[in-house]
Amino acid sequence: MSEAQNVLLSDPASGKSVELPLIHGSVGPACIDIAALPKATGHFTYDQGFIATASCKSAITYIDGDAGVLMYRGYPIEQLAQHSNFLEVAYLLMNGELPNAAQFAAFDHEVAHHTMMHEAFRTFLFGFRHDAHPMAMLTGMIGSLAAFYHHGLDLEDPDMRRLAAIRLIAKVPTIAAACYRYSIGWPLRYPRNNLEYVDRFLHMMFEVPSEPLQLNPVVAKALDLLFILHADHEQNASTSTVRLVGSTGANPYACVAAGVAALWGPAHGGANEAVLRMLAEIGRPQDVGKAVERAKDKNSGFRLMGFGHRVYKNFDPRATIIRQMTHKVLAELGVNDPMLEVALKLEEAALKDEYFVSRKLYPNVDFYSGIIYKALGIPTEMFTVMFAIARTVGWVSHWLEQSAEHDSKIGRPRQVYVGATKRDFTPIASR
Ligand code: ACO
Repeated sequence: MSEAQNVLLSDPASGKSVELPLIHGSVGPACIDIAALPKATGHFTYDQGFIATASCKSAITYIDGDAGVLMYRGYPIEQLAQHSNFLEVAYLLMNGELPNAAQFAAFDHEVAHHTMMHEAFRTFLFGFRHDAHPMAMLTGMIGSLAAFYHHGLDLEDPDMRRLAAIRLIAKVPTIAAACYRYSIGWPLRYPRNNLEYVDRFLHMMFEVPSEPLQLNPVVAKALDLLFILHADHEQNASTSTVRLVGSTGANPYACVAAGVAALWGPAHGGANEAVLRMLAEIGRPQDVGKAVERAKDKNSGFRLMGFGHRVYKNFDPRATIIRQMTHKVLAELGVNDPMLEVALKLEEAALKDEYFVSRKLYPNVDFYSGIIYKALGIPTEMFTVMFAIARTVGWVSHWLEQSAEHDSKIGRPRQVYVGATKRDFTPIASR
């Protein structure tokens, strides 16, 4: 980190000025530390949607949205996508370094041996309506882990914090698969610890008692890659939610359940499901033009799902990788999906259109992921659940980082109050 400098801020109305320190990260733009502002000037800052505000310091993930760069712990996403696997990336995000062979084997073993759920979990799951959305069930089930594991959880103890993180990484796939199987009326499957992380999940999802499951290595490899690409993305809405809840000292299961709830929205992780529904609604490549026109019309309430990003004002590097793999995976699986043709036409039309070009709206990670999930046999309602499985690794890494800070503060934004000014209470009879 380079040496801090100060920025002088003057308020002509009051004649007051304040010197605010500039904070430099290891790479990326400097940030003005505004904490001294209210005391010095009596003003707060207003930044709806955190367009210009960093909420924390973090050493986990770096994004340069203008250059289309994404790095986990300094490693470019392209290199991790090509050479690593999801569990190794999980270790990297949690611990800061890539594991050696012995460390990886120990981590793999540890995750595999925390995949089981308490049997009472079944009773709880079976209380949901059979047609509940899996994301609703996932939110509730992960929240319920707080009830199973709250006792004896000392958040001051780094080993206990780490154990909670491992439990979440290990159990979320078990819960996710159970939610799916319950929703389709299949018997729940226990995790098989002799399988690798992704294979184990696929087994829990798709194995039926009546016949052995032949796992397709193409499917497992593609899913592993999708998990790597979704593992973390610095202070996105769900991770910020996890950190905000974590800042209160809440237990990690509650924090991650809050993250899952935030992820579900269509402006965030829910977009992958929304993309597929949108492509199905457009239906034919020749109708793409109408959809683009509708997306440009602010009164239509319709946006191109899978397009645009708060941080990327250039291609989302994850979308570039997924785009390439979509063609490969579909070819390898022998899938001919008409949705892909609609998606390609839509991408082409939007990238040529002045509206999208001038606003720097490019396809994001969710634009193609739904098409691959579909080809892999993942039901549409499970798309955001898949995202949640991968992002659990990011959430727990951020929670661990935050929990280890000695100077952490409760997250408590201010507001611009626009309501009624002071008025006197009128008894109900006189209203
Ligand atoms: N379709 C049409 N217009 C769009 C779209 C879109 N997908 N996205 C943004 N715009 C327009 C806005 O209307 C706005 O236009 P204006 O300047 O004329 O008012 C301009 O582009 C900027 O958009 P904002 O909403 O201000 O951008 P913001 O950074 O707040 O939102 C977001 C980013 C939420 C991702 C937005 O682009 C969007 O809604 N995209 C569709 C949903 C989606 O794909 N979400 C997944 C994001 S990736 C992820 O979370 C994993």
